[in-house]
Amino acid sequence: MINKKVEKAINDQINAEMYSSYLYVSMASDMEGKSLPGFAHWMKSQAQEELMHAMKFYDFIVERGGRVILKGIDGPQTSWKNPTEMVAHVYKHEQHVTGLINSLMDLAIKEKDHATVNFLQWFVKEQVEEESTASDILQKLKLIGGKGDGLFMIDKELAARVPLFTFPLPGAQA
Ligand code: FEO
Repeated sequence: MINKKVEKAINDQINAEMYSSYLYVSMASDMEGKSLPGFAHWMKSQAQEELMHAMKFYDFIVERGGRVILKGIDGPQTSWKNPTEMVAHVYKHEQHVTGLINSLMDLAIKEKDHATVNFLQWFVKEQVEEESTASDILQKLKLIGGKGDGLFMIDKELAARVPLFTFPLPGAQA
């Protein structure tokens, strides 16, 4: 049976991951409006990953005999000045999420919840990757001054990201 304090903290993390997904869909929508389909695609793929993170926590609570309780998701920011400002926001947000994962880990250690400590290792590693990817894109944007031909090249590059899933899903009717 899962420790109650840990269960509550993981439920809060599900909300944070769902919010991340919501925020990234909002960024995708803004990029569509700015005619940057590659950035929009990258943000949609990122939003799928955040949903996957939330569901990983969901499955873990269920597996440990706990109960998932969902709360309201805050409305995200809806527009950004330019892609550089948006990616800087992604980077900052991922650093915030890393802090949340670290706090969760601290709690699991304090509560001697070894199963949760083990489970959270995956997220610790994932956050290193998430921060590094956002930071790389931000550096490239800064190098090219955030506009011109360089921006369209980065947009093309981001369009190549393989998403977790595409619509229609296999087996679903188009
Ligand atoms: Fe679920 Fe991007 O951290």
